[in-house]
Amino acid sequence: MSHVKTLTIDHPLIAHKLTALRDENTDSPTFRRLADELVTLLAYEATRTISVEPTSVQTPVALAQGVKLSNPTPVIIPILRAGLGMLEGMSRLLPTAEVGFLGMVRDHDTLEPSTYADRIPGDLRGREVFLLDPMLATGGTLIAAIDLMLARGANRIVAICLLSAPEGVAAVEKALAGRDVDVTVVTAAIDERLNEKGYIVPGLGDAGDRLFGVV
Ligand code: URA
Repeated sequence: MSHVKTLTIDHPLIAHKLTALRDENTDSPTFRRLADELVTLLAYEATRTISVEPTSVQTPVALAQGVKLSNPTPVIIPILRAGLGMLEGMSRLLPTAEVGFLGMVRDHDTLEPSTYADRIPGDLRGREVFLLDPMLATGGTLIAAIDLMLARGANRIVAICLLSAPEGVAAVEKALAGRDVDVTVVTAAIDERLNEKGYIVPGLGDAGDRLFGVV
């Protein structure tokens, strides 16, 4: 049974930071800081169902029952290059998570993704994976990344995207329909549409360029 969910997080602080991120006058250092803060806020929701197990601690007063993150630890995977701008904000919330790196680039004409770097554990069985990709545009990159995680045995995948296009959300849901997978997309907003160049409208432009400059 397929469990594909898209969660748009409706919160005034998230909307406020996203608005500043969209502003073409926001410079790179501010853009990086805002992206970092937004990820941490989204990560709070994205980790809502993370696996924990019971534990107890001795307080200065008495024994308290609590929880700790289950083993094996989750894996955080930023999709390079723009996903790197989300790593710090995610790791802050999950400091014990392992970090893998996936380099994917989409062809500017065909918009098809290809992999140029794969530094991800070969065996992800039983692991919860948090994929970081700021822009869910056509969905091509995210679908390819999700397929790779599933092929390696990940049992739960949460993709955190700052901004999404309806076309990308629909493409991810279509690609996974009818498959026995547990995938959630967490995003700050779903915009109007994609333009003919594959940019999200109104969007925020090229996230990688705005984070790291044009290279
Ligand atoms: N990637 C970006 O960086 N921006 C878009 O609008 C779409 C894809």
